[in-house]
Amino acid sequence: MTTTTTIAAPRRLRETMLARVEKRLAAFLAADRAHWGAKNPDSVELVDCVAEMVGGGGKRLRPSFLLAGYLAAGGDPESDLPVDAAAAVELLHTSALLHDDVIDEADLRRGRPTAHRRHAHLHGELGWQGESGHYGESVALLAGNLALVQAERLLENCPLAARRVWSDLTTEVMMGQFLDARSAARSVPDPDLARWIALFKSGRYTVAQPLVMGAALAGDEALRPALEEYGLALGEAFQLRDDLLDAFGDEAETGKSARLDFSSHKMTLLMSIALHEEPEVAALVRTDLRSTDPEQLHKLLLATGMKERVENVIDERLRAAIAVAERALHPEWAEELRAMAVAAAHRKS
Ligand code: IPE
Ligand code: IPE
Ligand code: MG
Ligand code: MG
Ligand code: MG
Repeated sequence: MTTTTTIAAPRRLRETMLARVEKRLAAFLAADRAHWGAKNPDSVELVDCVAEMVGGGGKRLRPSFLLAGYLAAGGDPESDLPVDAAAAVELLHTSALLHDDVIDEADLRRGRPTAHRRHAHLHGELGWQGESGHYGESVALLAGNLALVQAERLLENCPLAARRVWSDLTTEVMMGQFLDARSAARSVPDPDLARWIALFKSGRYTVAQPLVMGAALAGDEALRPALEEYGLALGEAFQLRDDLLDAFGDEAETGKSARLDFSSHKMTLLMSIALHEEPEVAALVRTDLRSTDPEQLHKLLLATGMKERVENVIDERLRAAIAVAERALHPEWAEELRAMAVAAAHRKS
């Protein structure tokens, strides 16, 4: 067997399963739409709000890591259990995004207006009663809740060991998101707290827990510590990249509103280190990140080497993740997880 074939085998297996996840999501949402359409035709607007987010693209990182954990742990590729679980983690992500865009007052997601903005617009166009913005946010909050319940329904047959990982994963996102909002409101730069938040609001549910849940579904406990260690290191790198894309990236590439972390006063690792250690940045921002000129701040963060500091943490975390994969996994899977790590840490969107 050639090297190319051995390297390609895990990827092919994972992608074949991922295609089944896409079908499962589409069929599940179509069935929910039909179910609610028969009860009350207007209620399908809420199902559609979820379906539009799911159908609006996205990298499908959480299902991919869940399937990778499952397959690397020797799970049967023909089983439907990991397909349902992978669809569930994408729906949990959908729920988190719908809520996150309300929390962050975001205008753009996956290259189009956010759900709450679209429904606010619709409210205004139809000349309905009440405040359009409030209506839009109400719809997005309810759609986020619906997506979470739909995810739960996909886990009907999920064994207890994986269910426990799921409970942790969902709770961690809420805690992370709460502390993200709290630290933005409190606005005291704390680099250690910023790293904790990056893991809980994002890194754990994106990489570490999907991998662990996949291995649990395959009935494997032995790989868990290594997958978790890899997932925590890469999960942090993933979110720190997200913060850099927000601060320095291009809206046309990310499909998300740029510089939103500045205007929403987020105490990301980038801003926490900068405010803590760079008097020039602290003097520019004073106590009001929201009204600081983003372009001026942008330049200063580059000039003072703050972007590079975060890039260095990303590189260190990426190397740590790859080292764990190489140490603990079968070479074919070590290579696949190395490639997935590089793609997630150096993504452009
Ligand atoms: C965005 O996640 C939300 C975060 C946790 C940072 P992704 O970057 O995976 O978004 P999609 O799913 O590809 O749109
Ligand atoms: C939020 O992090 C992660 C969740 C969706 C739970 P961000 O607020 O940084 O995510 P983006 O940048 O809006 O995608
Ligand atoms: Mg956000
Ligand atoms: Mg957020
Ligand atoms: Mg972000």
